[in-house]
Amino acid sequence: MSCLKPMIGPSILNADLAQLCDESQRLLDFGADYLHLDVMDGHFVPNLTFGHPVVKCLRNKIPKAFFETHMMVSNPEQWIEPMAEAKVDQYTFHVEPVQDVPEICRKIKEAGMKVGLAIKPGTSVDVVKDYLDFADLVLIMTVEPGFGGQKFMADMMPKVAWLRENYPDLNIEVDGGVGPSTIDQCSKAGANWIVSGTAVIKAEDPKSVISSLKKSVQTAIDLKN
Ligand code: DX5
Ligand code: ZN
Repeated sequence: MSCLKPMIGPSILNADLAQLCDESQRLLDFGADYLHLDVMDGHFVPNLTFGHPVVKCLRNKIPKAFFETHMMVSNPEQWIEPMAEAKVDQYTFHVEPVQDVPEICRKIKEAGMKVGLAIKPGTSVDVVKDYLDFADLVLIMTVEPGFGGQKFMADMMPKVAWLRENYPDLNIEVDGGVGPSTIDQCSKAGANWIVSGTAVIKAEDPKSVISSLKKSVQTAIDLKN
């Protein structure tokens, strides 16, 4: 019997960032299980968002919610301490630019955060295999990181399915182009942490989108049990 839980985390990247706090609170009130905060450095990805000072201010206004920072940065080690000080719960970083993945995982844990390992569409799932003992979650990108509103890459589903097959209790997250029309592919493959940006933010009824995403994941978990 698996103990997996469905977790829906809206990405606020395409929200009105001038209203970051209100938008985030609204999504939590609509049933979001966590906030997925996209941090970009303009180097690892060709876009720039916000960093730890903004996350810290948001945390002051929203003391209780689970914050995941998705670190699309070239030097993830550099931001571990500042993000821990901003009271981030989970630090999810890309393994591609990192030499010593276990060392970064150790430092994140020492700083009191959970560890997420992220891979881009072009990165094989084999790359994370050796590090799963150090991680709380694996993030399989379903778009090229950098921008919201891109088309979901269904050909990433075999990575999710392979991980689920081999690691029944691992938290597997998908991010990019996920919404009501693509969620069933993700849940069937075995993802249980779902990032959804545009599909939630631009919806007329974000609450029902969040609950339909959750239902799809729960149904898939129940079928496997
Ligand atoms: C892309 C980001 C995603 C993105 C998701 O680089 O990591 O979190 O904002 O947004 P949608 O759901 O619109 O693809
Ligand atoms: Zn993201």
